Amino acid sequence: MALLFLSDVDSARDWRKELAKHLPDLEMRVWPELGDPGEIDAALVWRPPAGLWNRLPNLKLIASLGAGVDHIFADPSLPPGVPIVRLVDPYMTTAMSEYVQLQVLRLHRNDPVYRTQQQARVWRPWPQPNAAERRVGVLGLGVLGRDAASKLEVLGFDVAGWSRREKRLPGIPSFHGAAGLDALLRRSEILVCLLPLTPATENLLDTRLFARLPRGAAIINCGRGRHLVQADLLAALDSGALSAAVLDVFRDEPLPPQHPFWRHERILVTPHVAASTNPPTAALAVADNLRRLRDGKPLRNRVDGSERY
Ligand code: NAP
Ligand code: GLV
Repeated sequence: MALLFLSDVDSARDWRKELAKHLPDLEMRVWPELGDPGEIDAALVWRPPAGLWNRLPNLKLIASLGAGVDHIFADPSLPPGVPIVRLVDPYMTTAMSEYVQLQVLRLHRNDPVYRTQQQARVWRPWPQPNAAERRVGVLGLGVLGRDAASKLEVLGFDVAGWSRREKRLPGIPSFHGAAGLDALLRRSEILVCLLPLTPATENLLDTRLFARLPRGAAIINCGRGRHLVQADLLAALDSGALSAAVLDVFRDEPLPPQHPFWRHERILVTPHVAASTNPPTAALAVADNLRRLRDGKPLRNRVDGSERY
């Protein structure tokens, strides 16, 4: 079996080593060295260039190097019949929940305010509610959102979540669909976005949504940059509709040096590190699906082409 590996992160050596542990006979070709493209059975990719798929006539599987697959669906030349699988790795899930817990605790404990006060040597304590009195909303109750929500609940927060279809999660009130969004927003002093990027979720984090949150709420976006309307965030921070934002993902990555988010005292920027792909653990999931493809077994974590996540 021949696999094409394509990533904008310099990780081909690690992936070759890790995949060889599970599939010693796998032939891994690293983009742009295709060899004979007709021999390539599967592609393991992150942000593939437009038009790539037209060059691979015998492709039988596209595997995402990340949990998200928006980077694959971005290319309209995507062949309709080729299955797409995304990455589900407990290591990544744990990493994301760590990030969400850290940022929710920072916001809950007024860390952005105290950072600013320290710059001006201001000694001013603010009222501090308990976690049980802090209402957190999680947009997206999939693999990552569900784990993050349940760990926030263990920390004592009053957590609720939102998804497309109805969910029943122990201890976490769950809302769904367009009708359920308002109820989730009205109760969310801290809003965490863990949605996939699809036509239905793009630009969801905009002025209209911010206006439905309690005044002075904070947001954490670790879904995708295109969920957020950037100018609307800046306006909401200026007007006091929002008090702070934590952003891990951006429309343009790396975030350009002149971008106003870098300098904004109420915005914390992290460089898309909430939950990075970890080759030693992720290779288990990728190798499992490559074996399944070879043996004609059902693939795991297959993406529904019509839902795009
Ligand atoms: P997932 O398991 O597919 O879960 C997606 C969740 O979003 C599901 O609960 C789904 O609802 C919900 N959803 C999708 N479309 C919706 C809509 N239109 N309205 C309401 N809910 C909707 O995905 P995941 O593994 O949790 O990953 C989520 C995203 O996190 C990825 O797509 C990626 O963009 C991002 N991510 C970021 C990083 C980072 O480092 N920043 C790392 C990994 C992933 P249903 O359950 O009803 O289907
Ligand atoms: C990272 O953003 C991922 O989708 O895994």
